[in-house]
Amino acid sequence: MKWLSGRLEHLSRLDYYSKPTDNGGRYVRLDSNENLMLDRKFTLEIIAKAIKDVDLRFYPKQEYEDFLYRQLKKYLGIEENYIAAGSGSDQIIDLLLSIIGPGKRVTVLTPTFSYFLNRCELHGLKLESVPLRRENNTICESDFFKLAKQSEIVYICSPNNPTGNQFDKELMMDMITSLQNKLILIDEAYVEFADYSLASSVTKYENIVVFRTLSKAFGLAGARVGYMVANENLVRVFRSRIQLPYSLGTLSLRIASMALVRSNQVRKTIERIKREREKIFENLSKINGIKVFKSDSNFLFLECCELYYQNIVKQLHRARVSVRMLGNIDGRAGCLRVTVGTREMNARFLKAIEIVSDHNKI
Ligand SMILES: Cc1ncc(COP(=O)(O)O)c(C=O)c1O
Repeated sequence: MKWLSGRLEHLSRLDYYSKPTDNGGRYVRLDSNENLMLDRKFTLEIIAKAIKDVDLRFYPKQEYEDFLYRQLKKYLGIEENYIAAGSGSDQIIDLLLSIIGPGKRVTVLTPTFSYFLNRCELHGLKLESVPLRRENNTICESDFFKLAKQSEIVYICSPNNPTGNQFDKELMMDMITSLQNKLILIDEAYVEFADYSLASSVTKYENIVVFRTLSKAFGLAGARVGYMVANENLVRVFRSRIQLPYSLGTLSLRIASMALVRSNQVRKTIERIKREREKIFENLSKINGIKVFKSDSNFLFLECCELYYQNIVKQLHRARVSVRMLGNIDGRAGCLRVTVGTREMNARFLKAIEIVSDHNKI
């Protein structure tokens, strides 16, 4: 099958998302931006309840799907016909890109969520990158608009992964109103930790799609539940024609709905994460040789000098703390991203960093 091997050869040359390893469960995992502040009891209680009323011999019941949509509507304050759920926002992003058609141009701000870039390449979309300003990760408006005007699609991750900052609301609204014939994809995976969401704008503007997830603030990364908020027409076609008939399993449907019912409990952990985030920021800001950026997410982005970077890798390994070691990205050296965990986890991370900075003072 020459035609297939040629195609596979092309695919093997593409970049792909590499999952962090769990090192046999021996490490503190501050590498995937989950909500570690949420007590494990919270999910265990929900799972116990879900198990009682599900029968996995059957395909997921319509009534469970309807219940999830009712809870999302309540949580967001947006009607159900603007919402489409799926197996993680990863899956929704991928499905949406798969139907756009190859050759279309997508403007992205870099560095950004690598999975999105990889999926664009997989689906034959052409990426046009605008680097964020190095000093504060803000958008260089003139460069952005110049490229965006020549593209069919714009992707903005806000708050941005890995830099952690949410972009200025006025600028975002300016993009939405001035780029009416572009499809603007706004990834709000971390929005619960930030100041504002643009999800409700979908009722007014047809050109935006907002991706959201229960993997981060809601502590349900393992359940794989995400959703998009978009205009009614796109949502109708997506739910009926594009999405798989049973993209969410019965257990995930039940667990996600129950977590949304208890969103007040989740909110309390978000506040605690935000307080911890500020504490880590203050601590890291005092260290020479490390530049830490203000974050509106449940993680922080750091740049450090070459010497520090190598030592941090070693020291974190010794302390059995796993973070996202990003290395050199987009012309920035020694980058890393660390999730805000529990107070104890954060202390372990900070201790390892402080050892590195003390060694370098001598
Ligand atoms: C910016 C961003 N979008 C989307 C996702 C994927 O979320 P999900 O677990 O819903 O697939 C992630 C996960 O890390 C992310 O960082």
